[in-house]
Amino acid sequence: MTPMDHTEILRKGIEDFRRFVNPLVAARVAMTGEPYRIAGTRDGKLVEEGGRLIEDLHGTQSLGHRVAAVADAVRDWLATDAPSWYPSRVNPYAGRLGRALNERTGYDNAFFGMSGSDAVEAAMKLARAATGRPRVLSLLGAYHGTTMGSCALMHPGMFRDPFAPHVPGVSPVPPEDVDALARALAPEDVAAIIVEPIQLEGGVNPLSERYIASLCELTEKHGTLLVADEVQTGLGRLGRFLGTATWPRRPDVIVLAKALGGGLLPCSAMLTYKDTFLRAYGKDMATAEAHNVTFGGNAMSCVAALAMLDLLSPEVFAVAKARGDHFQAGLRRALAGSPLVVEVRGAGLIAGVELRATDHPWLSFEHFGMDELHGHSPIGLLVCHRMYKRGYYCFVCGHRWNTLRLQPRLDIEESELDAFVTALREEIDSIADLV
Ligand SMILES: Cc1ncc(COP(=O)(O)O)c(C=O)c1O
Repeated sequence: MTPMDHTEILRKGIEDFRRFVNPLVAARVAMTGEPYRIAGTRDGKLVEEGGRLIEDLHGTQSLGHRVAAVADAVRDWLATDAPSWYPSRVNPYAGRLGRALNERTGYDNAFFGMSGSDAVEAAMKLARAATGRPRVLSLLGAYHGTTMGSCALMHPGMFRDPFAPHVPGVSPVPPEDVDALARALAPEDVAAIIVEPIQLEGGVNPLSERYIASLCELTEKHGTLLVADEVQTGLGRLGRFLGTATWPRRPDVIVLAKALGGGLLPCSAMLTYKDTFLRAYGKDMATAEAHNVTFGGNAMSCVAALAMLDLLSPEVFAVAKARGDHFQAGLRRALAGSPLVVEVRGAGLIAGVELRATDHPWLSFEHFGMDELHGHSPIGLLVCHRMYKRGYYCFVCGHRWNTLRLQPRLDIEESELDAFVTALREEIDSIADLV
């Protein structure tokens, strides 16, 4: 695309998005002042029209936007005449990515999709087919995706309720309640329990070591597959390839997505062990391909993912670990004593800042004529709005709007983290002065 084309798309495409894609999202970003007129990228940051740099803490990209090595790998591959989709479905690039993931994780079977949702869906189907059991459990507070299966696992609310009736046999258990878990698994009809090591959209809640130990022990005892949704916690954000690498038992299934495609192309993976795969799909030729998606494991996405895995070296993880510790300590120190901050939670480069919902009369969505948002506190979005103006893209947790969800890129400098933390305290203070 020539620079000319890009300018033209930027000029007309935003209005086209409002008309042809989603008018309410377009209205929201305009209203909240989210940075959206993005002219390009530089050094992993977004460049707004006019040249202002935006540091994106949304977490989708683990090494920032438009990583050069990933773009180069895709460009090199495009310079070949290889097909991206293989009619036999025996795609050598998918094979290569499966091997690379095996070398990094020990899991020796991979299914590739294009989103976290479809990889979660694959995990649910694998679990039912492998165990012959009907039930699938999730934790209250979960976010696992928006397909019908993954949405059934979701915490009750706007992402789940409008789409009822949900997939039968799916139900939540409360996190951290070992007795409830033991009771739910005891009948031995549960195919899988799917958990996030840190619930992100639920408010940035890490599972406790005690609960993780019970999850590992009770699932093994009752023959239930333990599925870890590492869409957010995997690929280095906790300073290691998999967040669950420190768990007492390796989960039976891991779900990866988001950053796996290098931030450039869609790529997700469901990793498991070969014997579990064969229990589900190894009975005969008829079932071998019973679960598939057409472009899952396409060559171009795999090339991007392989380039990304090359970048995720032990050195990068060591940096991410140090930056994560620095970030968590800096946030806790800077926000201590703020009347608007309830708690800082999280680990590594995943932080949550819970804000106090005030009863100030204008600090409500009703005040702005948005009665349908009654019950949600606008405090988090107000802080995000202020931070956009300071050059940071932050967002709130999907299920808890009064908690900020902050996920800087793995290679962010300490000085950049310090500047962010200072700006956040200043903006929270300026709101505290008003209310
Ligand atoms: C933990 C978790 N699982 C699954 C998903 C779904 O991924 P996707 O949006 O790629 O379908 C998300 C998305 O944010 C997520 O945070």
